[in-house]
Amino acid sequence: MFRFRGLFGRLLGFYLLIVVGTLGILGVLLSRLLQDYFFAAKQQELVSKGATIAELAGPLFQPGADQKEAQQHLAVAGRLLTGGALIVDRQGQLVDSIGQRPLVGTDGRTSCAVCEQLPELMAAMNGQVVTRTGYSPIFHESAFFAAVPITDRGAVVGAVIMHSPVLGLRDTIVHTRLLVFGLALAAIALSTLLGYFLARSVADPLRRMSRAAGQMAAGDFDTRVPEKGTDEVGQLATALNRMSSSLRETIQSLSEEQSKLSHIVATMGEGVIAVDRAGHVLMANPQAKAMLAGQQGELTGQALADGPLAAAFHQAMSEGKEATISLPGHDGTAVLQAHISPTAVEGSTVGAVGVVQDVTELQRVEQMRRQFVADASHQLRSPLTAVQGHAEALLDEVAPDAATRTRYLASIVRDCRHLNRLIEQLLDLSHLESGQAKLTLKPVAVPALLHRVVDSVSDAEGQPEITLEAATDLPPGLADESYTEQVLLNLLANALRYTPPDGQVRVWARTESQHLLIGVTDTGKGIAPEHLPRIWDRFYRAGETNKDGTGLGLAIVKSLVERQGGQVSAESRLGVGSTFTFTLPLANR
Ligand SMILES: Nc1ncnc2c1ncn2[C@@H]1O[C@H](COP(=O)(O)OP(=O)(O)O)[C@@H](O)[C@H]1O
Ligand SMILES: [Mg+2]
Repeated sequence: MFRFRGLFGRLLGFYLLIVVGTLGILGVLLSRLLQDYFFAAKQQELVSKGATIAELAGPLFQPGADQKEAQQHLAVAGRLLTGGALIVDRQGQLVDSIGQRPLVGTDGRTSCAVCEQLPELMAAMNGQVVTRTGYSPIFHESAFFAAVPITDRGAVVGAVIMHSPVLGLRDTIVHTRLLVFGLALAAIALSTLLGYFLARSVADPLRRMSRAAGQMAAGDFDTRVPEKGTDEVGQLATALNRMSSSLRETIQSLSEEQSKLSHIVATMGEGVIAVDRAGHVLMANPQAKAMLAGQQGELTGQALADGPLAAAFHQAMSEGKEATISLPGHDGTAVLQAHISPTAVEGSTVGAVGVVQDVTELQRVEQMRRQFVADASHQLRSPLTAVQGHAEALLDEVAPDAATRTRYLASIVRDCRHLNRLIEQLLDLSHLESGQAKLTLKPVAVPALLHRVVDSVSDAEGQPEITLEAATDLPPGLADESYTEQVLLNLLANALRYTPPDGQVRVWARTESQHLLIGVTDTGKGIAPEHLPRIWDRFYRAGETNKDGTGLGLAIVKSLVERQGGQVSAESRLGVGSTFTFTLPLANR
């Protein structure tokens, strides 16, 4: 229910104060006015009655007039008075006393012992009409007085002193005042009631609006206040409702933006960490948490753990400059790079945002590229140096005889061939690995292909015998024919090179569960277990020193097979032989 405080109480209070104040002042003024009016009217009445009585009393002062009759007239007139009248002669002697309480002396005559004490008597003797309200020494009470002179042919012969007790009039005034007071009370009661409703009509909607505003502040923007009337309060309600819905729209679009943003931050590949000026983490996406697990705690809500990352954040914020640092990853092998930018609002730094990237793969690729350039230059340098040496020797005619010169020339030719092969294979490999080499996958009849390849290499003298084992009904593989041919040629070249002439080389193909398996098995010198895992690397030659090979053959094989969707593998026992296999997808799968 309503408590009498707040706007409601104040409104009602002021309202009542005004009503009571106004009515109070009005009441006092009114009763004063009434009293004055009553008094004036009474005195007026006394004066006019006094004049009549003075006329009637005239014969009393005329020798020879009928005194008896005059006294009778006066007695009748006296009966009409509320108070009384004294008729006094010039010497101040009481001539007659009429009215409600006539003065009767001890001698049976009227007498007035105190008439001289009446101040208005003197004025009346001077021919003036005077009125007074005051104490009556005759009746010992408050009374109205009026003194009217009695004249005879222009001369003042006596005076009539009218008097009337105030008491009667007082009652009338008290009654009137009570009436005014009662009316004021009624007015106050009525205006209290009206004021109550007025205050309610203002305070109620305001209270409702204040409650609605509170709910809005708490995030409930569906709150509406009833829009009653078109006055200021009604307009305020309309404005509040409009504000509520526009706030809701704004907040909705803001939160949509924010969720979009946090979705982006959550799904991006990099880790993102935002910290405040004191270095407390405000936000960290899951990637950042995963990357920094181990070196940082929960991240969100706490300060960054002491270390290079925290130091870099502080440096970026204190210098207002971006900073980049490298960090070890959680498993020790990974390498992270953090790029930190300070965030400034109106020129002052309020925090910083760090983007953490896992650069392990990038660094590995970069390392590989560097290694490759170093290896390639190394591989190219030795034959080139040899060529240069022999050529210079020939130029300087250091070689003593024709046979030596021929040997030098033969060596130069051999080195040049090697260089050529090396460059050719390097180009092939780079072509393959850059993805530029064209790949045409189609069903390939593997037995026929094997035949063709084996035929192309088997007519040389002094090389091991090559046998072929492949069922003619082998299902076709899905492959690029020229790729597969190159793979087989490389494998066969190795088998022939690393197998003594009395050895055996077997080329075979069979179906495995999901694919074709093609192999080249030899009875050659084999590969030591420590070399086996690395033979697919570029330039890796398993301790081989002869100048025929480049160490690129198997790297090319691996690349070719994998581009066709297959896999390579090698098994070998030192002194027993080796088996190199690769797979091809089946064409009809
Ligand atoms: N059939 C094989 N028997 C023995 N060793 C082999 C065989 N094939 C390859 N290797 C070893 O693997 C190394 C890498 O082979 P490859 O990449 O073809 O280079 P290369 O140009 O030396 O043949 C060879 O140098 C050799 O040591
Ligand atoms: Mg080779």
